[in-house]
Amino acid sequence: MSQFRLTQISDTHLARRLPTLTENFHRVSAHIDATRPDLVINSGDLAFSVEGDDLAFARGLHAALPVPCRYLPGNHDIGDNPTTAGPTPAHQASEQDRQRYISTVGEDRWRFDEAGWCFIGLNSLVMNTGLASEAEQFDWLASELGRAGGKPVALFLHKPLYLDAPDDPELAASAIRYVPPAPRRRLLELLSTVDLRLVASGHVHQRRDFTYGRVRHVWAPAVSFLLPERMQPVIALKETGLVEYRFTPDSFEVRHVRAAGQVDIDLDSLLKR
Ligand SMILES: [Fe+2]
Ligand SMILES: [Fe+2]
Repeated sequence: MSQFRLTQISDTHLARRLPTLTENFHRVSAHIDATRPDLVINSGDLAFSVEGDDLAFARGLHAALPVPCRYLPGNHDIGDNPTTAGPTPAHQASEQDRQRYISTVGEDRWRFDEAGWCFIGLNSLVMNTGLASEAEQFDWLASELGRAGGKPVALFLHKPLYLDAPDDPELAASAIRYVPPAPRRRLLELLSTVDLRLVASGHVHQRRDFTYGRVRHVWAPAVSFLLPERMQPVIALKETGLVEYRFTPDSFEVRHVRAAGQVDIDLDSLLKR
């Protein structure tokens, strides 16, 4: 295949009790049905809550999409990673949560090759936990990158690597927003051995697209809802939507789009209903 059309969706936050979020997902599903990409990637936070059966509910809705899908875990799917500067997560990612994700959704990391590119998906929530699966994932990544064979690499993960630059300090107010500094350094060291071109993430519920060095960083907006300013400053664009990519050997295009009828729902108004 000399071109590969990929649609990234993120932060669907689905729950049976929150039908307005399901409506936004259905608008995005209709867009995917109309555009028929080769693959859909949900870059995490499929579920509204890590407790209960939201993840299974979310998986069921994705099963109805008319194209192949891959998934990555978010903090609302398997719990969060500990940070040094930030508060202790209310629900820290554990091996039990990871196994529940794998049995409900599928693999929490993957690699595939299309259109002359190497695509890698990582579980960013086990990073900094000290779990065995964190070390296993780094070993696995080193081995996969060793087999990239000079192809350009596109990395997908739930949390952005950083705000503006690799050595951004970890701040208490924003530590939960990015990959923690220690695993970030290790990740960047491993990725420095390959031709990394794209880092695509979700998690922040803001649409952003910037380039640092040779690497383009795309923050996919949430499918579901926006965070009010009392909870999160404006960094980029607060809107719901999705991202479309077209990869061809040695290059790629990014389109920032919204599905027809997709609504900007504010978390405060959602929880008031
Ligand atoms: Fe989210
Ligand atoms: Fe998240």
